[in-house]
Amino acid sequence: MRNTVLAAVILFLAGTIIAATAHKVGDAALGTIPYDRFEKNEVCAQCHTDIARQYAQSLMSQSFTHQWDEAEYFELAVPHAEKLAKVAGVKAGCNGCHAPLAFLAGDIPPKRPEAGTRANEGVSCDVCHSITGFEGEVPFNFNYIIEPGETKQGVRTGTESPHHTIAANPFLASAEFCGTCHNEKDPWGMWVKATQLEWKESPQGKAGITCQQCHMPAAPGNSAPDAGGQDHPDVRQHLFHGAHWPDMLNGAVQVGIVGASDTVHPGKAVRFLATVMNIKAGHMIPSGSAEERVVWLDVNAVDSNGRVYHLKVNPKGFKGEELTISSPGTLAYQDIGDIKGLEGFAGLERDGDVPAGDRIFRLPYLDEQGRMTVAQWNTASFGPDYRLAPLKATNETFTWKLPRNIATGPVTVTATVWYSRVVSSVARYMGLPEEEYVPVKMGESSFRLMVTAG
Ligand code: HEC
Ligand code: HEC
Ligand code: HEC
Ligand code: HEC
Ligand code: HEC
Repeated sequence: MRNTVLAAVILFLAGTIIAATAHKVGDAALGTIPYDRFEKNEVCAQCHTDIARQYAQSLMSQSFTHQWDEAEYFELAVPHAEKLAKVAGVKAGCNGCHAPLAFLAGDIPPKRPEAGTRANEGVSCDVCHSITGFEGEVPFNFNYIIEPGETKQGVRTGTESPHHTIAANPFLASAEFCGTCHNEKDPWGMWVKATQLEWKESPQGKAGITCQQCHMPAAPGNSAPDAGGQDHPDVRQHLFHGAHWPDMLNGAVQVGIVGASDTVHPGKAVRFLATVMNIKAGHMIPSGSAEERVVWLDVNAVDSNGRVYHLKVNPKGFKGEELTISSPGTLAYQDIGDIKGLEGFAGLERDGDVPAGDRIFRLPYLDEQGRMTVAQWNTASFGPDYRLAPLKATNETFTWKLPRNIATGPVTVTATVWYSRVVSSVARYMGLPEEEYVPVKMGESSFRLMVTAG
């Protein structure tokens, strides 16, 4: 009897030790690490001042507090998780990437940002610099292995810090590191974020140009000059510029337009060819939160009297193409009504303010009933992937029949590619500030046509 009790105690203790040392990963890591195991950004900022100032400007420091994140989590995801068993996991799961400290501490749902809890720290310094690797074959759904403590994960050898020990860990220099949060599989098994997977297939990925090289470019400097840090030729700048940065969007897309002829008579038709190319991103444009981004090609002609004519894209005839051509009056996002329990909610304008007939470079996310959704966790299937692939061009044609009474003289035909971070109809409905959806110009060019009396 006594031996059995002893054996049971030993087994129990052994179990506890194993549980304490094995690293719980992904969903299983919920509630396994208390808040106080992580240091605050202010501590790091005492020595790593410039990096801390750069990072504070980035969206990863606001991944829980940013208004749209707060709105989508508290007004859509949490109510949906409480209503529909299939998506129940997102109540905790969103935080695995957006508020890792709260997720790991088991503080679910975290209090709203105004409460000032440590959830607000988002993807903090100590989150990234405590990640040692990931579990499984593919990085996704916060399957990072995280070991906060005295040792900070870095990439260099031979450096020393008065505050912490340093582990030289090549994982931090890899795209897989970023992929642990930048790839996401939803409850329906759909890859609703696949930035690292897209990157892997890209020419940049194949050439070994990592996320870090474009989003954290290296510059000569010293990351802790007043604390004994060494000078290096390649200190990682913590900029993380992305979709919220016009400098990143301007010029990321190249666009050219030519007409099939240089001259045309009034009343006759002329065909234009617009070529659009993703020239700078090592992944699709848009990538990541593709469910809510809108990237479109708008073509206008201006005659010698200054009159503006809007041109509509010629359809190509592929399956699901209607989802890639702007159609004002077409409604979508009806699942917002289901989530909020709104009787008779007809939906919101599918394409926001995009002019009728413009080509939209998008991946339509469809709910179980085949309706477009911005709730990426509610995606049961996809429409055609008509986004801009890295270093690939897409041709679009526009046939324009000139009015008989058009003024003779030069006509300037301009092709512009625009980017809006959130479809404007949804943004207005959710009460987001205008800066969240105001169109940003990615690329533009023109062609000159002569209208001659015929
Ligand atoms: C008292 C000053 C001090 C504080 C506080 C401090 N560090 Fe450091 N840290 C340094 C110094 C010095 C180095 C060495 C820099 C060098 O020589 O390149 C360093 C290096 C690093 C490295 C680089 C590892 C590599 O690749 O070489 C990382 C990552 C790092 N610190 C993260 C952090 C984080 C995260 C915090 C806050 C939790 C923090 N540090 C707090 C002084 C500090
Ligand atoms: C060759 C340079 C390059 C590489 C490599 C690269 N990016 Fe980007 N990234 C860009 C550019 C340019 C943009 C702006 C265009 C855009 O928003 O799509 C961007 C945008 C983004 C965005 C915002 C996307 C959106 O539309 O919402 C995210 C997130 C992102 N990158 C993450 C990553 C991650 C993670 C990796 C590695 C797996 C990576 N990037 C690799 C250049 C790059
Ligand atoms: C999203 C993850 C992420 C966050 C957040 C982050 N870092 Fe880093 N940091 C990295 C990666 C990745 C590298 C190494 C990149 C490489 O060399 O390829 C790095 C490198 C560094 C280095 C070494 C710089 C060098 O090149 O000598 C220091 C120091 C550092 N980080 C400190 C910080 C501090 C302090 C914060 C918060 C203010 C912070 N990091 C936030 C991912 C992150
Ligand atoms: C612990 C999870 C996590 C890791 C690791 C991570 N990210 Fe992020 N990242 C996020 C989240 C969450 C957001 C969304 C922020 C928001 O809410 O707008 C984001 C946003 C971004 C953006 C978009 C910024 C914008 O202006 O739109 C870029 C770029 C980015 N991350 C790059 C990287 C790169 C590069 C790495 C690897 C070095 C990385 N991230 C690693 C979670 C992570
Ligand atoms: C696997 C990690 C991961 C999970 C889980 C996740 N997100 Fe994100 N989320 C990200 C990353 C990374 C981005 C940035 C992508 C980009 O910029 O294109 C992002 C972007 C967003 C954005 C857009 C932010 C902006 O500024 O435009 C919102 C809103 C958002 N997430 C809400 C949620 C909600 C709500 C959930 C849960 C249903 C969730 N996320 C689950 C990683 C994640």
